[in-house]
Amino acid sequence: MSINILNSSREEVSDAESLSQLGFIDSAKEKVKKLSEELGRTPRACVVTFGCQMNARDSEKLLAILKLAGYEESESEDADFVIYNTCTVRDNADQRVFGRLGQCSNFKKKNPHMKIAICGCMMQEQVAVEKIQKSYRFVDLIFGTHNIYKFAELLNTCLESDRMIIDIWKESDKIVEDLPVMRKYPFKSGVNIMFGCNNFCTYCIVPYVRGRERSRAPKDIIRECEKLAADGVKEVMLLGQNVNSYGLDFEDGDPRKISFAQLLKMVSEVQGIERVRFMTPHPKDFSDELIDVIAQNKKIARHIHMPLQSGNSEILRRMNRKYTKESYLELVDRIRNRLPDVAITTDIIVGFPGETDEAVDDTIDVCNKAAFDNAFTFIYSKRVGTPAASFEDQVPEDVVKRNFDRLLKVVQENAKNQALKLQGRSERVLVEGVNDHDEALLTGRMSNNTLVHFPGDRELIGSFVNVELTECHGFYYMGRRCEESQQLTEN
Ligand code: SAH
Ligand code: SF4
Ligand code: F3S
Repeated sequence: MSINILNSSREEVSDAESLSQLGFIDSAKEKVKKLSEELGRTPRACVVTFGCQMNARDSEKLLAILKLAGYEESESEDADFVIYNTCTVRDNADQRVFGRLGQCSNFKKKNPHMKIAICGCMMQEQVAVEKIQKSYRFVDLIFGTHNIYKFAELLNTCLESDRMIIDIWKESDKIVEDLPVMRKYPFKSGVNIMFGCNNFCTYCIVPYVRGRERSRAPKDIIRECEKLAADGVKEVMLLGQNVNSYGLDFEDGDPRKISFAQLLKMVSEVQGIERVRFMTPHPKDFSDELIDVIAQNKKIARHIHMPLQSGNSEILRRMNRKYTKESYLELVDRIRNRLPDVAITTDIIVGFPGETDEAVDDTIDVCNKAAFDNAFTFIYSKRVGTPAASFEDQVPEDVVKRNFDRLLKVVQENAKNQALKLQGRSERVLVEGVNDHDEALLTGRMSNNTLVHFPGDRELIGSFVNVELTECHGFYYMGRRCEESQQLTEN
């Protein structure tokens, strides 16, 4: 077994690194070519993604390298190279990975050439890696979040070795630019603006597995957006765990130090980019400057996903969220006053230690007052190593379940009422694909993130069209194409 555990990598951003990785892709190509000759067909690779948009973006990079090395993309795990990009934000995410991994071993029994790799957030936890070493011996390669840019090199080592290769770094302050990416959609793309998180919410594992905040230089972000636009991308989503703290890790006086609002404005000015989204802003530092930039710029989507987590100020204090019920509601008011067409969505955790029925009443009260357009509700999951895991007043399962159901009802009612307000409007939508259930229908996404299904030709996929919203079906609409849109939306 080859194990490489480094404590830290303190290198500067380097072009040399991306060049050296491109060299490794060339070496991998030769190995894949040989494998292809042995198999008498093109080897197939499958990337399975768990978790958030940031993981999805990482997966696009992994797939690009596999394709450049000569693999053909496969949707099925019955492939020659399978990689699981894992998430560990909640325990059920971990369990899903182990389940899939177990099933995958059956494919490997039939295909001795097969390689199985596992990477991502879960691999930054020692217990998870130990479990794989012990109980999933058929895994060939394990690496973490900090050295994902070295995948081409790891792929090479893996292709010439029969041993389990493990390469996990505890930290990194390195950002490697210009690695290849294979986008899932030709017309829209995520763009990382920063990595890591410094907030240490007491329930959350992300700061431990993704490390400290590291912002990319504005010029690198703009250059990536320009390249994407030149390549036909019309919509970008700027990604970070807390986009509002973008740039704060640069020293005062560093020309790279600009606010997130300034960056957002710059990205929206990139020629060819017609819509800009961002995810996730933290309520504690959502500035008026940001609200102004959104208000003044119709290219910026009318959708703000702003996690509440709890509506009770004492629980929020214990979560280390740094805002109160009142300050959150005041922020929602400020946003809704300046951006009347905006959809506000949120994340809520039920069952955080010490949460009483009255605390959940507060959360429900915020949901009603904020009138969220949608909310993702999660049951609190104890993450080993986080402060909340050792809080004494963990909430019994039956109480959590009861409160979860109570909350969900309110969330769904609000979402329905909010969606109904759009009835009869005409909206500009980006056509994302053919409807999953009916081939005659297309699916488009509005500026405020609501989906609408309408009859149309598949040639429209990837372009903006105007659609009249005729029938509300709870969270989505049915519609028909029309000449003009009312301006919820872009120019
Ligand atoms: N950076 C973002 C969200 C990251 S994780 C933010 O600060 O809002 C996505 C969501 O997972 C969180 O908003 C939270 O609602 C949920 N989550 C995180 N840790 C959790 C835990 N231990 N148990 C349950 N839900 C959790
Ligand atoms: Fe986790 Fe909080 Fe960071 Fe979001 S801001 S990733 S919830 S620690
Ligand atoms: Fe999961 Fe990692 Fe994202 S833990 S939510 S994939 S940052």
